[in-house]
Amino acid sequence: MKVTSVVLAALGVTVSLAALTTTTPAPAVNGDKAVIGYFETLHGFPIDQLDLSKYTHINYAFGAMWKGAPDPYVVYVDYTTEGPKLKELVRRGHANGVKIIMSIGGWYGSQTFSEVAADPLKRKKWIESAMIFLRPNTLGENVPIPDGWNMDGLDIDWEYPGRPGAICNTVAPNDTANYLLLLKEVRAQMDLEFPTNHKTITSAVSIFPWAGADGNSLTDIRAFIPVFDWVNIMVYDVHGPWSSSTGPNAPIYNAPAPGDPFSAQQAIDTWTAAGWPKDKIALGTPFYGRAFTATVNMNARDPVTQYAPHTGVAPKGGPSDSNATFALCDEGAQFWGFWNWGEIRENILVDDSLTVPTAGWKRYWDNTTKTPWLFRESDSMYVSYDDPTSMSLKVDFARLHGLKGLFMWEAQMDYKDELLTVLNQIHCSSAACICNDVDAWSSATAYGQPGRKVAYNGRLWTNKWWTRGETPAGNEWGAWKSVGAC
Ligand SMILES: *[C@@H]1O[C@H](CO)[C@@H](O)[C@H](O)[C@H]1NC(C)=O
Ligand SMILES: *[C@@H]1O[C@H](CO)[C@@H](O)[C@H](O)[C@H]1NC(C)=O
Ligand SMILES: *[C@@H]1O[C@H](CO)[C@@H](O)[C@H](O)[C@H]1NC(C)=O
Repeated sequence: MKVTSVVLAALGVTVSLAALTTTTPAPAVNGDKAVIGYFETLHGFPIDQLDLSKYTHINYAFGAMWKGAPDPYVVYVDYTTEGPKLKELVRRGHANGVKIIMSIGGWYGSQTFSEVAADPLKRKKWIESAMIFLRPNTLGENVPIPDGWNMDGLDIDWEYPGRPGAICNTVAPNDTANYLLLLKEVRAQMDLEFPTNHKTITSAVSIFPWAGADGNSLTDIRAFIPVFDWVNIMVYDVHGPWSSSTGPNAPIYNAPAPGDPFSAQQAIDTWTAAGWPKDKIALGTPFYGRAFTATVNMNARDPVTQYAPHTGVAPKGGPSDSNATFALCDEGAQFWGFWNWGEIRENILVDDSLTVPTAGWKRYWDNTTKTPWLFRESDSMYVSYDDPTSMSLKVDFARLHGLKGLFMWEAQMDYKDELLTVLNQIHCSSAACICNDVDAWSSATAYGQPGRKVAYNGRLWTNKWWTRGETPAGNEWGAWKSVGAC
């Protein structure tokens, strides 16, 4: 990432201390189910190929803090390369009723969260740098670097307070306590600047709640409820090269030993036991699989099981899997073993049955964890992945527990929207989708009484006032409000 523009610290809106000490209101109740896509523009996927009728939120990944930055304590985005993409994402998203969220941190961009959160002055400056993403632009359409990006919320992805993440991160015992201070101040500043236009705060979190000063997960996290609209629990990477055996990337139910006892069910149980409401959880799903090199022939075992000893080093996965080191934090050259769903479809599960792999592979279904897996004897490659069947069971699980919705890492890894389409079943009751029995919008019809429902462009809309001939769009001044994807 090239450092070409550092504009953030210069703008001086002060944080009102009065606002910080008053109790902030709980986020507005939002009954809508969410389908949230993390989207990294750096892979070059064209924004106009995202089917925005199938998302409620896109999380732009990532604004970052790293130690080599000109100012390591503010949110950095390279506007030279990313500015045009951010503008396009916001413009297209809003035209389709999709909220566009700035995700900050992630694996490599969380390096200085610890220092920021620990210091009142650094927090204030950081918040000022983050608010720029939410403000309207007052400088005109054509300026290369606006003074506001008109986004709808912040996804504050500190990976992880009080726990080791990337090797470049600072970690301190007080991280989680300080994180709460930071979040409260962000919430207060948002409510001050946008009193009638609620901006969301979310975070991508681990299957265990935040760590306390002793490094163990907190057992009471209720103090965080008022500051978050919801959390995105990353129920993936459950098994990887570090695990004692091969095993599922994203199990719904706990794996039996020798697998690790982590799963969607465990994550929901652990978070709710610490006081977290289920309707403030979005369930994370991977649009990728993970490869291992097993040290036994997994086809030859009786009974067949997806748990096997392995080399502990990920092989090269799909065509795009890379062993390049990341410029902002060198963790050594290694493959990840990632197979994007699109790559699995183009190379292994070419057959639309999704159960008959190409020559050399065998495909299995694990009915305990509700995950499919593949094995190739020639190089002992085991791949745990998700397909429409396992995704559909994840949607059922999210519905059963009354979760906020689902999200994926990450949007551009899909194949012809196969998995995304399944996630959209969250908008359906057990019997029907929200747009069933709803008439399509018609430009000739007068919609009088507010609250009339129409389906248009893959979404359900209601009118705010009498309207005729106005196309439903996610325009806050328009007559139509988006209720969600059909
Ligand atoms: C950690 O937080 C506690 C209370 O929140 C405070 O008393 C203590 O000074 C903090 N320690 C550090 C090292 O910041
Ligand atoms: C990365 O992988 C390639 C093979 O794809 C290999 O030739 C190269 O040596 C690897 N780089 C490092 C630094 O390990
Ligand atoms: C998988 O388990 C479910 C119960 O969780 C059961 O209804 C179903 O018949 C099982 N399917 C197979 C193929 O064993």
